[in-house]
Amino acid sequence: MKLSVVVLISGRGSNLKSVLEAAQLPDSRFQIVGVISNVPGAGGLDHAKAHDVPAFVIDHKAFSDRAAFEAALASKINQLAPGLICLAGFMRILSGDFVRAWRDRLINIHPSLLPSFKGLNTHARVLDAGVRFTGCTVHFVRPETDDGPIIIQAAVPVYADDSEATIAVRVLAEEHRILPLA
Ligand code: GRF
Repeated sequence: MKLSVVVLISGRGSNLKSVLEAAQLPDSRFQIVGVISNVPGAGGLDHAKAHDVPAFVIDHKAFSDRAAFEAALASKINQLAPGLICLAGFMRILSGDFVRAWRDRLINIHPSLLPSFKGLNTHARVLDAGVRFTGCTVHFVRPETDDGPIIIQAAVPVYADDSEATIAVRVLAEEHRILPLA
């Protein structure tokens, strides 16, 4: 039986697109059973629709606090009953309680070689630090942000004339390759 996966997004959803496409390959071991965005109008919702995957918006701004938002999120996820939740550019911090409830069934993709460069604006900090390699990581989620057992990583070179934008293109191509593998 295929592993059923719910993907959580907040934005353009290029990683979502890569897993939707990989799920359609004949030997795929997973299927995407739903996509949830916390941002109305997120570009990734169109990718879900194009693949006939149910897509839902749960706007965090419509809730009084994080607990209420997460209760709605959990309720929708439980309806979809996935074996795995995949965070693919999901830009809300999830509470320790939520993360513990899905321990080892909740993965995230991060655009750096963890444990280096946790948090936001990774490519700018990579340039500032002068490192010669960066990359991306898929990991199991733990309560501490961008922490948890590493599943797969890919490294890319950083060149002297790189900008944030050129690094982002190089890293993103690897994100799209490793997320379906994870
Ligand atoms: C990716 O760089 C991912 O690693 C990070 O957010 C970005 C999402 O991009 N967590 P997309 O929405 O998948 O195009």
